[in-house]
Amino acid sequence: MGAGLDLPLDKVMIGDCVEVLRALPPASVHAVFADPPYNLQLRGDLHRPDHSKVDAVDDEWDRFADFAAYDAFTREWLAECRRVLRKDGTIWVIGSYHNVFRLGTALQDLGFWILNDVIWRKANPMPNFRGRRFTNAHETLIWAAHGPTARYRFNYAQMKALNDDVQMRSDWFIPLCTGHERLRDATGAKLHPTQKPEALLHRVILSCTKPGDVVLDPFLGSGTTAAVAKRLGRRYLGIERDPTYAAAAEARIAAVRPLEEATLAGAPSKREQPRIPFGALVERGLIRPGDVLTDRHRRWEAQVMVDGTLACGAARGSIHAVGAAVQEAPSCNGWTFWHLLRPDGTLRLLDEFRRELVL
Ligand SMILES: C[S@@+](CC[C@H](N)C(=O)[O-])C[C@H]1O[C@@H](n2cnc3c(N)ncnc32)[C@H](O)[C@@H]1O
Repeated sequence: MGAGLDLPLDKVMIGDCVEVLRALPPASVHAVFADPPYNLQLRGDLHRPDHSKVDAVDDEWDRFADFAAYDAFTREWLAECRRVLRKDGTIWVIGSYHNVFRLGTALQDLGFWILNDVIWRKANPMPNFRGRRFTNAHETLIWAAHGPTARYRFNYAQMKALNDDVQMRSDWFIPLCTGHERLRDATGAKLHPTQKPEALLHRVILSCTKPGDVVLDPFLGSGTTAAVAKRLGRRYLGIERDPTYAAAAEARIAAVRPLEEATLAGAPSKREQPRIPFGALVERGLIRPGDVLTDRHRRWEAQVMVDGTLACGAARGSIHAVGAAVQEAPSCNGWTFWHLLRPDGTLRLLDEFRRELVL
């Protein structure tokens, strides 16, 4: 890595994340996803009084002397993540009730600005065997920007599209990682106790990055973040202390084939759409006064006026206003509603003319 000036890309780095992060250049990654140790042992939740296990994690990496030790470690790695995060980047931190409140406090104390807490509701949670508490059926993800005034990316339109054209909410219903996705060792046992489902990372990465952006995971584990980032055409950098996990992650990532570039575009955000008035199409002769526009099902026909307004029965106004009026809807995106009815009877969406104009 030289003198710590270059950002290594598409690599799994073996080592303590605080040390590795210290050698990375500042403001160099677009997003961080961190799934840190849970600190289960301290809560005494791991074992019943008879020492039989109740939780999935009892690894060395989850052992801390006390809350103070856990907090000190948390602040160290979070501070380093903030240093390497671009000012317009965002961080995701996932945790359970054992640690997520400590993580949230540390995030705020370090200057991050919390944007959402997302509940990952597990479709198939582990049952509560003793019946002394509610079944713990969710984890919390905290999503935060670099600071209170930082600009950041949120792919609102893509999240809405992913959710059948309804705004994506902060409660996500996703199953645990099981079946063929779960990595296993030679004996058939789970290779990693807390392997996250790829569907969770798909949503996280899609929501806040674009193809080519760099996603950093300081606790890579079995490599879920890097595998999904690679599939989605993003760059990745993973850090993992345990060489066995790191090797498994590398093999897993190597087997991933990135999606075709053409499939990565998704729904454009309003800001990314070209700002062109419909009148510009009329001025430039792409659509002529007198042309007829119709909707996809040819239910309504509207005539184009010389100033770029439409007339459809009693309705007069912009492509949006007339589209809304004929449907008796509160609003309408005229670009994706109206089509030009061509002389041969075929249709062409207005949005395609608009795109042509900006190319
Ligand atoms: C909760 S697991 C992450 C699981 C991962 N999200 C996945 O899907 O497989 C935390 C991981 O962090 C690693 N780890 C713990 N402390 C670390 C440290 N100081 N530096 C780097 N990795 C560490 C552990 O070995 C463990 O694999």
